This record gives sequence, structure tokens and C-alpha cells, in this order.
Amino acid sequence: MRRLRLGVNIDHVATVRNARGGRVPDPCRAALAAIAAGADGITAHLREDRRHISDADIAAIRAAIGKPLNFEMAATDEMVAIACRTRPHAACLVPEKRSERTTEGGLDVIGGHDHVAAATARLTAAGIRVSLFVEPAKAALEAARSIRAPVVELHTGAWAEAVLAGETGKAEAEFQRLRAAASHAATLGLECHAGHGLDYDMARKLAGVPEIIELNIGHFLIGEAIFVGLDAAIKTMRAAMDEGRGAA
Ligand code: PXP
Repeated sequence: MRRLRLGVNIDHVATVRNARGGRVPDPCRAALAAIAAGADGITAHLREDRRHISDADIAAIRAAIGKPLNFEMAATDEMVAIACRTRPHAACLVPEKRSERTTEGGLDVIGGHDHVAAATARLTAAGIRVSLFVEPAKAALEAARSIRAPVVELHTGAWAEAVLAGETGKAEAEFQRLRAAASHAATLGLECHAGHGLDYDMARKLAGVPEIIELNIGHFLIGEAIFVGLDAAIKTMRAAMDEGRGAA
């Protein structure tokens, strides 16, 4: 079974910094600390309203880290231009509405097919590996394939919400939806990642799905870091993922 990679999302280090408008805590320092703790890559989302990560953060992180940068972005002309200039290893296309606290649903790869395909083509031509953040549904995966994205990231938000709400039946149904989607993605030749709302236990369980080869995790890890430090939080996450993979 392939090793499961951990991408650490450092957006909320910038959220804390921006609460005071100064320079600390520095997301670039967090990115380097995450890599030292065992992250396989860094994920950062440059939002249209720049509510956390800034353009300068992206440039600084890109220059500082020796591991892949996964640049989360909306499929807008502005973001495509920034990505093509910055040339991160990967770009993950996500939906974006100003009022959202976070990325609430998967990308509309069916209704927005041609728009997403055009952004994907421009990014791919710039040498950037494109991933599409989609709902764990067959139709979305098939649209991702027809868009010619090499990677999909399955949205784990509905599962995470059901787990945290203690809705056992719904959580199990959502988990089976993720499992089936991962398997279908592999059948279509799509590399499969997953993320959103994951904690240690959820990451351990998801690690048992062999077709998933990368998890992108942010909010929980930055929250844990307040209590145990970023290094310990990432090492505990890595251990949970390895345990889940090993048991599968
Ligand atoms: N993957 C994608 C595509 C996301 O948009 C997010 C949230 O920014 C994450 C992963 C990480 O989610 P969380 O911060 O809830 O771990």
C-alpha cells in the first residue's frame, strides 16, 4: 500500500497573526516547523479577501520550503495569474464565496465544467499539478476526469461534521461514501487526496482507505498546537496516520 502523505495547512497561523495586524506568529516559520516535524508538504489558501494568508506569505513560503507547496485557490483569473507566477508544486481549486468561514462544499465541477477546465489547462501549462476539491460523488469524479485534472481531493467535511455531532449512522454512511469515491477515483486513474475538518481519530480511520494517498489538515492541528506545540501535534497526527495505514 502506498505511503500516506501529510500536507499541513498553515492558514490559521495567519488568522492569529492578522487578529493583531502585526508580523507574529509567522506562517512561514510554521511551515518550516511543520516540515521539521514530518509534514510532506505545506498547504496554504490565498483567499480573494486575503483574510488569512497574504500574497507575501505565499512568496515567502514558496522560497523557504524544500517540500511541495499546495496552493489552494479559487478558479479566478487573479488567482491563476498568481499561481502561474509563483509556480507552486500543486494547485488545489476550491469554491470560494466571500461569506464562507471556510470551504463549505466541493467545487461545482459539473455546472462550472468549462470554467474549471480552462483554469486547469492554464495551470497545467505552467507546470502545476492541479487537484480539484470535490464532493465524494461519482458524477463529480467523472467531471474531474473530463476536465483532465490529475488529482482530486475528496471533501471530508460532511463526514467530519457527522462524527463531531455524534450522528453515528450518518457518519458511517458518509465514510462509506468517501470509501466508494476513493475507489472510483482510482478506477478513473485519478490520484486521490482528502481533507477538511479532520482530527487524529478521523485521520487514523481514513488512512485505512488505500486509494487515498494524501491528507490535508489544518485547523485541528493549529488548534492542538496551542496546547502541545506544533511539533508534537504533527508527530501525533503522523503516528495516527501510520497506525491507520498499518492496520489496513
Ligand atoms: N483541503 C481543502 C481543499 C481545504 O479547503 C481545507 C480548508 O482550508 C483543508 C483541506 C483543511 O481543512 P481543515 O483546516 O479543516 O483541516
